[in-house]
Amino acid sequence: MSLPHTAPARAAASVEPAGPASVTRLLQAIADVGRDAGRGGYSRPVFSTPEMDLRAWFIEQAGRRGLDVHTDANGIIWAWWDTATGVRKDAVATGSHLDSVPGGGAYDGPLGVASALAAVDLLKARNFRPRRPLALTVFPEEEGSRFGVACLGSRLLTGQLNPDKARKLRDPEGNTYADVAAANGQDPRLIGADYTALQQLGMFVELHVEQGRGLVDINRPVAIGSSILGHGRWKLSITGEGNHAGTTLMKDRRDPMVAAAKVMVSIRDTARKYRDARATVGRLQPVPGGTNVIASRVDLWIDVRHPEDPVTAALVEAIGLNARVLAAEEGCTASLGTESLSPTVHFDGGLRDRLREFLPGAPVLDTGAGHDAGVLAAHLPTAMLFVRNPTGISHSPDELVEDGDAEAGARALADCLAGLLGEAVTPG
Ligand code: GLV
Ligand code: MN
Ligand code: MN
Repeated sequence: MSLPHTAPARAAASVEPAGPASVTRLLQAIADVGRDAGRGGYSRPVFSTPEMDLRAWFIEQAGRRGLDVHTDANGIIWAWWDTATGVRKDAVATGSHLDSVPGGGAYDGPLGVASALAAVDLLKARNFRPRRPLALTVFPEEEGSRFGVACLGSRLLTGQLNPDKARKLRDPEGNTYADVAAANGQDPRLIGADYTALQQLGMFVELHVEQGRGLVDINRPVAIGSSILGHGRWKLSITGEGNHAGTTLMKDRRDPMVAAAKVMVSIRDTARKYRDARATVGRLQPVPGGTNVIASRVDLWIDVRHPEDPVTAALVEAIGLNARVLAAEEGCTASLGTESLSPTVHFDGGLRDRLREFLPGAPVLDTGAGHDAGVLAAHLPTAMLFVRNPTGISHSPDELVEDGDAEAGARALADCLAGLLGEAVTPG
């Protein structure tokens, strides 16, 4: 199931001084990869040139540290620091993702990957010898920005996403996941649940930039994660009648763009009726999409989140009902389909308590953002560390981490890993 690496194809060039790498220096080495001049920030969709360059950079960095690196059939990169026995069992895994949303920030994903590399350096500088193996991981398509399903790599790994469905997913240009994966050196016939890989893992800890103001408000650099808000994605298609913008009288129109505008306001108003709910339309696509064309159809993608899964379901049902009524007012029809659904996740209490021992006094925070740690949580104990983001903004070029906080995050991760890796592997 895995492709060993010899030499990275397109590693970003960097000359680094000896000794532990700082997170800041690691991130500086990739600071020019995938910059988006149009949107600002970074656009690093899975399997794009920037994302592949970042993968090559990670593979090269892991190789420099003597880690045993391979990319599995699901496109997940694994970099192993083995014990003397070479047995891969009860491993501690840590890592994040390198893909981004369109026009995203520099830290969402790469901070966790760079911190994992820096934590290995810190442990080596302490002459630490792990008693159980460590796996650094990079998960593809965490954002779902290209193929629509967030955490695609970890969902495939854990069997939460049907491989046939995954192969047929299409990007906005109409390319299938199977074709794009094949063009990037993966065999799409081999994607799917990998219980052998999962069974090697004892736990997963993901470090991530905080995507809100929790740490800013309490003036602390690092927190331990407690839960992830349940969330999902739905596609709403509103169908009307395509026609000419100049010759079609206003009274004769069945314009799905007008219906979509009403529906978006109603989504906002409906979500406001549910405490703690979030509902967002971040992407809307008129078909065919021309200034002098009344659209024949509008597709819009709705992201809905709430701590209680039944409330999410009720909210989505209300959104669908309202959409049908509002579409009908404009002579249109509406249909709603689920693209992905992730229930609310409470991280493993035992592992969280261990992290609290290693990071005395660290605050515990929940998050409204999705992560591969949330997908893995159904299969093994998982935990998260969050690093302060002074702007509190994420999925935007304004996302920020101060250098000192980035290093504090890597030290916190190294301290947690030292504690977890210092324990003997359970026999058997
Ligand atoms: C990913 O960051 C998400 O929360 O959708
Ligand atoms: Mn994100
Ligand atoms: Mn992320």
